[in-house]
Amino acid sequence: MNMNAQQFANKLSARSQSLAYDVHKYFDWPDQLPTDAFWIGPELTTVYGTEYCARASETTLKRLSQAETVNLFSIFAHGESALLQTLMKSWLRPELAEFFRYLTHFADEETKHTCFFVEFCVRYGGGVLPSRTLTLPSTFPPDVERMLGFLRILVFEEIGDYFNVRALDDQRLPELVRRVHQRHHLDEVGHIAVGWRIAAHLLASLGDVPQSTLETAKRHIESYMLSSVQGFYNPDMYRRAGFEDPFGVHAALLEHPARAAANDAILTRARRRLHALWTRGTGEESGQEDKGEMNDVK
Ligand SMILES: [Fe+2]
Ligand SMILES: [Fe+2]
Repeated sequence: MNMNAQQFANKLSARSQSLAYDVHKYFDWPDQLPTDAFWIGPELTTVYGTEYCARASETTLKRLSQAETVNLFSIFAHGESALLQTLMKSWLRPELAEFFRYLTHFADEETKHTCFFVEFCVRYGGGVLPSRTLTLPSTFPPDVERMLGFLRILVFEEIGDYFNVRALDDQRLPELVRRVHQRHHLDEVGHIAVGWRIAAHLLASLGDVPQSTLETAKRHIESYMLSSVQGFYNPDMYRRAGFEDPFGVHAALLEHPARAAANDAILTRARRRLHALWTRGTGEESGQEDKGEMNDVK
């Protein structure tokens, strides 16, 4: 680990300190959110680009956008919780010593995110929706599993940020919803930037791992990303929005070519950075195109 990584982590710690907030005071929670508004842009709903969207009334689409916001925030809350467990299992390890101070900010911010996503779901969605993910025991060697744990965190954050950046300034959404996305994005910029550094460091620190194990690890992350995106398709949300045959809609959307393209768009940045990690040992991209805000914190 060179001084650059240490300086980078210190800079992120200073950034987190200067942006710190009291989550219990940060938001003004209205008693109700408008039900005649989109809570997420219709382009971000899971029916967009399909005949189900074309045939639905505006009221149905608004209801779906509200239900899918609760679904999204529930997925985020469960994801933050899994992330914190992964982080805290490893953060005292010597290979992460230079990152430790920043990782305490990371954990603090993820705890706050869990807090506001849960608050939102309880207030406006009837509670946090149950997790629909299945976690199987790892079959990877411990050091590979540790790297994969951080990579699952990262791709989860990249996916979340896709929604945050598209919603944070969308004037069609209630102000509170925009503020939730704004705050989450502000904190996630740091997590994503340091996350790729940590992933690169853990990859470089791996012991003698057979190529076949690495190939299996790459496939594991790809299928983790796909199943994460498929979690946004929840039959219960189609039922809440008033679609007939919600399970039929769910099955059709999972096979729909327009949705496959939309899923790929959500995963583009994560895949590009993963490719850079596997081929060049760094999650930082070499081109000028769409570097996101990784450079903002350098
Ligand atoms: Fe978060
Ligand atoms: Fe995060």
